[in-house]
Amino acid sequence: MPNLALLKDKNKPLPTADGSISLYSMDYHEGYRAKSVGAFTESLHKFYHASGIEKMLMHKDVRLLDICLGGGSNLAVTLDKVAELDTPYKLHIVTVEKQSSLFDTIRHARYLWPQRGYNTLRKLIDDGDCGNIRLDIAIGDARPILEKLQWQFDVVYFDPFGKRKNPEMWTVEVFSTVYKLLAQGGKVATYSSGKVIREDFVKAGFSFVSTSKPGGAFQEGTVFIKDLK
Ligand SMILES: C[S@@+](CC[C@H](N)C(=O)[O-])C[C@H]1O[C@@H](n2cnc3c(N)ncnc32)[C@H](O)[C@@H]1O
Repeated sequence: MPNLALLKDKNKPLPTADGSISLYSMDYHEGYRAKSVGAFTESLHKFYHASGIEKMLMHKDVRLLDICLGGGSNLAVTLDKVAELDTPYKLHIVTVEKQSSLFDTIRHARYLWPQRGYNTLRKLIDDGDCGNIRLDIAIGDARPILEKLQWQFDVVYFDPFGKRKNPEMWTVEVFSTVYKLLAQGGKVATYSSGKVIREDFVKAGFSFVSTSKPGGAFQEGTVFIKDLK
């Protein structure tokens, strides 16, 4: 009998290029973050910095809609960076995820990094708030959940798996729903730079800019903007 402790969880640790550890989904056969970019690096550049959330939080309360929590890297990096901001403003996060087991995985997977950001995320998952930050959780298929949401958001992190694995999330219908949920001037950050995806976001009403590639090291992402009218 081999001396193996088999992991029952459908999500396994995934070491990534910058040394941070993300998760690998045995159901989707895909990493939650790009192994070749690095989980921390990708969340920092393609979501936190690209969305402009830091600047917004310096002058107003901010509502962030996190579409597809996954391994929580985008939120943990955001919470880690926000902890360093000297701002009196509040951050209200709503996260939508269909795999309820991920919340327990995040609670228990102590290898996830940055630790401070993940500790804040764990507290938010358990208590709903932590200082000036509040988290609301919606578990289930994002499409009907987004249609029923009544709030307006300043920033959206749009982060399903790629279009081949997750085609139902990359449609003009979903992008139009996200458009309605955004305040004027609001921004959607995503890792994708796909031509058709950009065209479909434009059909839903958005303009867009490419996110910068630090050091040219990896594929650019996109920020979609609901222009001021
Ligand atoms: C790329 S991962 C998200 C990575 C995550 N944002 C992070 O920072 O670690 C994609 C996630 O989308 C979720 N997902 C896929 N389709 C969904 C749907 N229709 N509704 C809600 N969640 C969905 C999957 O369960 C998975 O957790």
